[in-house]
Amino acid sequence: MIDFGNFYQLIAKSPLSHWLNTLPAQISSWQQESLHGKFKLWFNTIDHLPMLTPDTLDLIHSVTATTQPELSDGQREGVEKLLRNLMPWRKGPFSLYGVNIDTEWRSDWKWDRVLPHISPLQDRLILDVGCGSGYHLWRMVGAGAKLAVGIDPMQLFLCQFEAVRKLLGDDQRAHVLPLGIEQLPSLAAFDTVFSMGVLYHRRSPLDHLWQLKNQLVSGGELVLETLVVEGDEHDVLMPGERYAQMRNVYFLPSPTALMVWLEKCGFEDVRLVDKCVTTPQEQRRTDWMITESLADFLDPTDQTRTVEGYPAPLRAVFVARKP
Ligand SMILES: C[S@@+](CC[C@H](N)C(=O)[O-])C[C@H]1O[C@@H](n2cnc3c(N)ncnc32)[C@H](O)[C@@H]1O
Repeated sequence: MIDFGNFYQLIAKSPLSHWLNTLPAQISSWQQESLHGKFKLWFNTIDHLPMLTPDTLDLIHSVTATTQPELSDGQREGVEKLLRNLMPWRKGPFSLYGVNIDTEWRSDWKWDRVLPHISPLQDRLILDVGCGSGYHLWRMVGAGAKLAVGIDPMQLFLCQFEAVRKLLGDDQRAHVLPLGIEQLPSLAAFDTVFSMGVLYHRRSPLDHLWQLKNQLVSGGELVLETLVVEGDEHDVLMPGERYAQMRNVYFLPSPTALMVWLEKCGFEDVRLVDKCVTTPQEQRRTDWMITESLADFLDPTDQTRTVEGYPAPLRAVFVARKP
């Protein structure tokens, strides 16, 4: 079973120590009652991976680990085969000792759009809500974070994170917990909180913004990335049953409407720092995610529309401060 003891020890002497009043009980009931049917299989995969210590580890430009001497062909094939048990790999890419996990998403492109606009992450305590495989957590560590904590309820993503962590020499600078944002108490302890690709999945987007604010220290920074639509402060799209084939999409505001929401929730210095159409180069089917991807979700005769006739995915990044 995944051991969260290191994390508990780590936060015991940090501004997160009060989280220990609730977290261990929550995790232990998750372990007893909520494990995914395939969890054992995924955990066995992690167990069989070798613990490797990288000779070089680049977390600044990518997530790339190498070792000298290089792994033999047989060792590399063994690692690759195990990592493929954890498919589909959506967020990445990862380059681990010659195994290149070409994920559905070029999450590095998103990071390049976000990083130039945010306060330096050096020595900060960071929360990444909806962290997926934890790709951005490693990039936050690369940018100097003191500790990067991710939460995501999808257990496959936790296992992908733990697999990568083991291959990075059991690096303890990043951690993932199998929790949704609604399960967090108001910690008021993080210097930066990221919510990227989550808001449109929330039925109550304003409650989501409040929950994010409750995790920040006073003066802390929110980095919010989400799907938006063109329009003014009155425009919000609520799609029907599906948007780009996704069932769980609720609100796509215009950037100005979202800025009004952020201000209504008490954030200050609200800024829109990036807006960008998602292309089928950024989100695509690969050898590590073999089912449908963005190209299949767009109207084949008009790439500016989804198959349902809605505006094609447009994403925006906002930065705001908790007073
Ligand atoms: C579109 S992905 C975004 C992943 C990553 N943050 C990124 O930007 O590339 C959304 C993620 O949010 C997670 N998620 C869904 N509901 C959540 C919740 N209630 N709390 C936290 N994460 C959630 C999903 O499991 C998924 O990994």
